[in-house]
Amino acid sequence: MGPETVSNVDPIDRAEAERDVTARVIDSFAATPDERFRFILQSLTEHLHAFVRDVRLTEAEWEKGIDFLTRVGQISDDRRQEFILLSDVLGLSMLTIGINHPVVAGATESTVFGPFFLEDAPRIALGGDISGGASGEPCWVSGRVTGIDGEPIAGARIEVWEADDEGHYDVQYEDERVAGRAHLFTGDQGEYRFWGLTPTPYPIPHDGPVGELLDHAHRTPMRASHLHFMVTAPDYGRLVTHIFVAGDPRLETDAVFGVKESLVKHFSPHTASEPTPDGRVVHTSWSDVVFDIVLSPER
Ligand code: BEZ
Ligand code: FE
Repeated sequence: MGPETVSNVDPIDRAEAERDVTARVIDSFAATPDERFRFILQSLTEHLHAFVRDVRLTEAEWEKGIDFLTRVGQISDDRRQEFILLSDVLGLSMLTIGINHPVVAGATESTVFGPFFLEDAPRIALGGDISGGASGEPCWVSGRVTGIDGEPIAGARIEVWEADDEGHYDVQYEDERVAGRAHLFTGDQGEYRFWGLTPTPYPIPHDGPVGELLDHAHRTPMRASHLHFMVTAPDYGRLVTHIFVAGDPRLETDAVFGVKESLVKHFSPHTASEPTPDGRVVHTSWSDVVFDIVLSPER
């Protein structure tokens, strides 16, 4: 049956025929033994079909969509995860985080994990330096890790990672250097401190199909300047978050919708001549930021 024939059909019959396909597909999943999986498959069918009916998807558009998803798969490997990037720019990652980490009163909010975390980052002592030679302005980062009742959490593991001032993470360097990342443990009173780099804005990888999508939509690939944290401690929920730099104009247009107001922090600028908190001699301007971290109880 060609499209002309279909368009001559009574609109009510046509709508019924369209719904009939949906109903039959939903029904085809009825015997899925795993209840949760069945629910997901049937709901996916319902919403996917509703979307196609809503936009009256043409066959040419369907082909373009298939081509796009094929290329998203083709560019992905163990270092490049274009599907996660797609989820990020569509806001799906942040939506999933929001559903799974509802705000706990008084606890630090979560945000997107991103693709640049590495296991086995070097350990530094309190007051150590995470830069490992990555370029950028030094930044003194300090604070305390506590629970929601204010109890200090000693021995919490803090993982931190960030891009250099050219917008690259170490995993994007040509060589195997480890830089701009480390882990450390809080002291007896939950305190922590380290030298990092003042965060600067950088683009998410945009040389693939997700970059094309952003380009077509006149959207920026730039992320607001940020520093990543992952904090874990026994009996507390794992926190994956960032801090953002107050005043950064990109806070409004972060490519992955990761900004939450509570995570925007004031980074105080300092000149080279000002003494640093730990007496380290710094020959350039530097900054400092305080980030007190509150972990929610384990769920
Ligand atoms: C990041 O912040 O590292 C990141 C997050 C989402 C997509 C790309 C990068
Ligand atoms: Fe990042």
